[in-house]
Amino acid sequence: MQYLPIFTKLDNKPVLIVGGGDVALRKCRALIKARAHITLVAPLFCDELKAHADKGEVVLVTDYFTAEHLKGKMLVIAATDNDTVNNQVFELANERNIFVNVVDDQPKCTFIFPSIVDRDPITIAISSAGTAPVLARRLREKLETLIPQHIGPLAKLVGSFREHVKARFKHFADRRQFWESVFDSSVVSKVQAGDTLGATEQLHDMLNAKPEPEGEVYVVGAGPGDPELLTLKALQLMQQADVVVYDYLVSDEIMDLVRRDADLVCVGKRLGNHSVKQEDTNQMLVDLAKQGKKVCRIKGGDPFIYGRGGEEVQVLAANQVRYQIVPGITAAAGCSAYAGIPLTHRDHAQAIQFVTGHCKKDGQELDWPSLAKPNQTLAIYMGVIKSPHIQAQLLKYGRAGSTPVAIVENGTRKEQRVVRTQLSQLAEQIEAHKVVSPALLIIGEVAALHEQLAWFGQTAQVSSFAQPLTDVA
Ligand SMILES: C[S@@+](CC[C@H](N)C(=O)[O-])C[C@H]1O[C@@H](n2cnc3c(N)ncnc32)[C@H](O)[C@@H]1O
Repeated sequence: MQYLPIFTKLDNKPVLIVGGGDVALRKCRALIKARAHITLVAPLFCDELKAHADKGEVVLVTDYFTAEHLKGKMLVIAATDNDTVNNQVFELANERNIFVNVVDDQPKCTFIFPSIVDRDPITIAISSAGTAPVLARRLREKLETLIPQHIGPLAKLVGSFREHVKARFKHFADRRQFWESVFDSSVVSKVQAGDTLGATEQLHDMLNAKPEPEGEVYVVGAGPGDPELLTLKALQLMQQADVVVYDYLVSDEIMDLVRRDADLVCVGKRLGNHSVKQEDTNQMLVDLAKQGKKVCRIKGGDPFIYGRGGEEVQVLAANQVRYQIVPGITAAAGCSAYAGIPLTHRDHAQAIQFVTGHCKKDGQELDWPSLAKPNQTLAIYMGVIKSPHIQAQLLKYGRAGSTPVAIVENGTRKEQRVVRTQLSQLAEQIEAHKVVSPALLIIGEVAALHEQLAWFGQTAQVSSFAQPLTDVA
């Protein structure tokens, strides 16, 4: 990190701006907002700066800059159009350990002005460390549209209650739970509607009510791995949770996005390596919620597609635990998109079947005659180990040996790999390329479109992942 983001209180603190023109004026405006004690030094000043001086907001010193002007200053900004003067300001300030910013000369800045989203008292600062100011500005514009205007008044209102809440709840966890319930309540919509009085009354009522810890479980689908495939709701709930219960299938990048001080519990789930039994996971969710915790049960892909989310929710419902279910992008959708394979296509596949290669222990067989029909796509989850059986059964029931197959390993992740083959060589190719979990088998004519569409798909949709696909024909 080239610059540490900190918010400084400049109230009445001595700041020097060297320069008297438009650039100095722009910096001056930001510093006036921060109520700094601003001195400007220059041989000449523009009219607007003079007007600020008349209002007592700045002090103008009509002079050429010398080291003397730095005496006692905390920050200095060089805003002249003279490189020699700017360099001199930088050198002298640096020698004295005074923070210095030479406008539009990033190597000569020991502090920088970030792009700001201002919802006073909420302030969001964005910086590209001077490398890409236009990108930072674009991000700011995005955030401007995302962050509602009422956030500022809401922050002011809750800020006025902080001391009362501290007095009412001695423990940090209780305070946090109180604030979470406030932000989940209609206090927010009241502020949004401009009903500050109503919001204030409701806050008083909530503060005086007898607190009842009410836990909840969020059953969240995290998608196949690329964190940008998370839904907004998934992200919000991941950041609200007290406890996050997760599987191995959830990628590290996604786990990096959960609330920092949440407790993390890994319940495993790798084929043949179930570190926590499903029944124990179910009970854990119930117990945590009954303790009043907000539990984020985060699963790879979609929780209701081969994710055992259904069983977990049944247990929650039976125990009268509140829950929310957030769908995720399932592996079939994510892997096929990132590998450039449309799961259906007018010319090649009119149907798609999601299939598990990992059947229940009672040997319950799949409907092979139906799966072997042509003009459909099979997306086979957990099919790597059983691939010899899958291959044999599909061939036995009439699917052509030449049917295209794509094996997508670590789909949507940085390390995504696609092995392209045909049905008659499925198991052999899995063995030859040492395919590892998680991997999805896509069987059907559409798999051949990978060669045609993969590059476009990769650059268009995985732009954050720079490296190309490793294709094995
Ligand atoms: C227990 S299932 C969970 C499926 C998940 N609930 C979903 O909707 O994608 C695990 C299987 O999903 C597939 N899978 C999940 N994520 C994947 C990924 N990123 N790449 C390839 N296959 C994946 C693999 O077949 C893996 O063995």
